[in-house]
Amino acid sequence: MVETQVVTGIATPNIALIKYWGKRDYTGLNTPNNSSISITLDETVKTTTSVVFSNKIKKDTVFINGIKEDITNKKASEKTVYMKNILNKMRSYSNIKENALIVSENNFPSGAGIASSASGAAALVFALNKALELKITAKELSIMARQISGSACRSIFGGIVKWNKGIREDGLDSYSEQIFPESHWKELVDIIAIVDSGKKKISSSIGHEATVKTSTLYKERPAFAEKGVICVENAIKNKDLDLLAKTIMKDSNNMHATMLDTWPPIMYLNDSSKEIIYKLHELNDSQSNGKYIAGYTFDAGPNAHIITIDKHRETIRKMLKEISGVKNIIESHIGNGPRIANEKETLIDIKNLSPVKKNS
Ligand code: PMV
Repeated sequence: MVETQVVTGIATPNIALIKYWGKRDYTGLNTPNNSSISITLDETVKTTTSVVFSNKIKKDTVFINGIKEDITNKKASEKTVYMKNILNKMRSYSNIKENALIVSENNFPSGAGIASSASGAAALVFALNKALELKITAKELSIMARQISGSACRSIFGGIVKWNKGIREDGLDSYSEQIFPESHWKELVDIIAIVDSGKKKISSSIGHEATVKTSTLYKERPAFAEKGVICVENAIKNKDLDLLAKTIMKDSNNMHATMLDTWPPIMYLNDSSKEIIYKLHELNDSQSNGKYIAGYTFDAGPNAHIITIDKHRETIRKMLKEISGVKNIIESHIGNGPRIANEKETLIDIKNLSPVKKNS
């Protein structure tokens, strides 16, 4: 009987190079209107999630970043409800039926465009799979994670990942796969410029639906993104930074244009984000050989992800340091996907069935 064994999963966010924005299902399947491509980041940015099942736990209890979330509350956020659904679904496949204690922590700001829900959902399903002794395949875990937060299905794999949109109504063909391992282009780096570490005002769940419903520009978006997926795949295959940079910037701009075209408009970028955009274009345009050295991409938040290679890191950092709104810079290379952590990394105090007290 393993009922009081704590299992800890660690997963990292992914940053989409071609973005997912807009769903074709809003009942919790999170099937997208277009395929997307991302890089899974390394453990510089990570979510650690510990889970334990025990008959001593009175009801399912979840702590996220030190705050107790009532997942049974009728007013819980959409993603919290989806999380509860996946917990129940995975438990229904298992012989372990006890209540769960789940403790999850990010080492980076949540809700600010660094895909905390992606790493959170991936770490959770990864840990649940082991704790419930399910042996679910990575493809199926990707489908599970997708149902908590769409983009999470890409964090189940390391390296460069493609999420095939799928066409089935039940979503069973909408999952991610690794298209290049992390070793393929080791020099690739995401330089994250934090300009605001607060939570975004409009959640992506609300945003996806509002844009699809009200934006005229959005009608062009899925086909544009599909072309981008092919282009980025080729750029990565050939390690063509110039093509990669141009394609990802156009895709990010295209997605944010549909957000602005939403009614009422959604604007995730702030003045500092815009300054980064202008400065990076100036820098790219000043290259003597005419080749771009880096590209920006923004998720549903104002923080810039600048994709470049190690050779240009210092140039990019120097550029960012001259922008007063940049509060912090985080660098992450490509990571190798989720893992089960060792005992030292646990967030659950097994004796007291509670979150581990910091500095104790
Ligand atoms: O997975 P969600 O529902 O949080 O949507 C995320 C959408 C973007 O981050 C803006 C783009 C993407 O593909 O990750």
